[in-house]
Amino acid sequence: MTVATNTSPASTPSVPSHTLFVCKTCASVWQEGKRIGESGGEKLFQQLQHLVQDWDLRDEFILQEVECMSACDRACVVAFGATGKLTYVFGDLAVDNTAPAVLECASQYYTQRDGVLPWAKRPEALKKGLLARIPALPPL
Ligand code: FES
Repeated sequence: MTVATNTSPASTPSVPSHTLFVCKTCASVWQEGKRIGESGGEKLFQQLQHLVQDWDLRDEFILQEVECMSACDRACVVAFGATGKLTYVFGDLAVDNTAPAVLECASQYYTQRDGVLPWAKRPEALKKGLLARIPALPPL
């Protein structure tokens, strides 16, 4: 899950081709304009960080925490993205027991050339809460 900084072709590990975005601000408790304690998004991110250690696609994905994906009332929110593929944004994800389903769905996303995630094949936790399916950018 790390990106190489050495650009020597002989020693450069493969650069992850896919990104799993996780909003770390989702499911926060706010008091007088300040976030109190650990947010649900942070907890989900930490669970994912733990699980990816043993994930066979850990070198193919960047696990990227983000501040917000503008779906704050649909917490928790994650997104899958890759060059040449659809981008998916999912919300309404529970903090607990969702991380394995997110990685399962990420694996499905990885294997699909265009990134299409058919509803029937998605894990239960990601069958609902699809917020956006954004077309791939056209080739330059
Ligand atoms: S706080 Fe998570 S999408 Fe805005």
